[in-house]
Amino acid sequence: MKSSMILGVGHFVPDHVVTNNDLSQFMDTSHEWIVERTGIEERRHVVPGHGDTTATMGYRASLIALNNAGITAEELDFIIFATLSPDYYFPGPGVQLQEMLAPDHTIGALDIRNQCSGFVYALSVADQFIRTGMYRRILVVGSEVHSAGLDMTTRGRNVSVIFGDGAGAVVVGVAPQHTDNELGKSKILSTHLHSEGRHARELAVISPSTQHWVSHIMNENNPNDESYYPYMNGNFVFKHAINRFSEVINEALMANGVQSSELKLMIPHQANLRISQYIQQKMGLRDDQVFNNIMRYGNTTAASIPIALSEAVSEGRLQRGDLLMLAAFGSGFTWASALIRW
Ligand code: UT7
Repeated sequence: MKSSMILGVGHFVPDHVVTNNDLSQFMDTSHEWIVERTGIEERRHVVPGHGDTTATMGYRASLIALNNAGITAEELDFIIFATLSPDYYFPGPGVQLQEMLAPDHTIGALDIRNQCSGFVYALSVADQFIRTGMYRRILVVGSEVHSAGLDMTTRGRNVSVIFGDGAGAVVVGVAPQHTDNELGKSKILSTHLHSEGRHARELAVISPSTQHWVSHIMNENNPNDESYYPYMNGNFVFKHAINRFSEVINEALMANGVQSSELKLMIPHQANLRISQYIQQKMGLRDDQVFNNIMRYGNTTAASIPIALSEAVSEGRLQRGDLLMLAAFGSGFTWASALIRW
């Protein structure tokens, strides 16, 4: 059986910086509250009408990842696109990206709907396709435009201050089978995926849905209907997050016979800096073993891990042969980890 490895990474975030003080112009919140509870200092929002969408940001991140991998779009065999904020209700943005990259290169495009865990789920799917020999080069993208769907009033403040926009991408390819240098050791060692649908409504956008379809919405024409906005039971999600993160990281360590002290870097999904710090402490990791950038981007859901990975690589925090842990938890609930020999 073959193994897969990450050949290239890239990310793109919109230029428009939204500070905590900017948000306090729209809602009853403060820089101090947001930093103390989440660690977030600023985030990026697309400017409506300026051209950045979930698909276009995914495209811009993908071009960088392809360049970093040293391949062209025509050399890709498959696209996997993770997002909870597609440009259209359907089709998903995978096909938009296929058109933007190489319109006549009619490869398959799969859309992943696993929210904050979406990128790790997508990476796992890519890994399986490469292991079986079905594909040789797969583009895996996470991209989100949250800003368009947030309730930017005091009513939505517990959610709206957290989320930001952005995109990240990786190219996954066949790992070399020789082991005589550091590159030869590179591979995705394992992925572990979980879900617990009984908590689906604790972090969700309910409308439009099969129960509340567009015709009902138009008939009701109710400006007080909150069901179009994300709902999050913050404390409940927080408590589950810290447990599930720890579990799925330990699952990956145990499956590979690895100690947390051997990790060069852990990149947790950037949900809340307090969650990352809690996991770091529970795992006994040093500061230099954990990568956080939520301070600058907020929580970008499926994009958060590939954006952080791209920044970590640019900053020289990972060298070929290093052990890298990715872990995520979010809406669904879903949670997942990937252990990678970089
Ligand atoms: O990425 C996917 C998964 N998502 C997560 O992992 C997020 C998990 N949850 C969290 O990060 C935290 O629960 C939040 C950051 C959302 C909230 O922090 P918290 O420490 O759990 O605060 P809380 O919800 O218990 O609210 C404390 C107080 C409340 O006021 P009262 O009832 O004590 O008077 C809230 O109304 O803070 C109030 N509050 C705010 N105040 C200022 C809630 N949001 C805000 C805000 N600014 N933005």
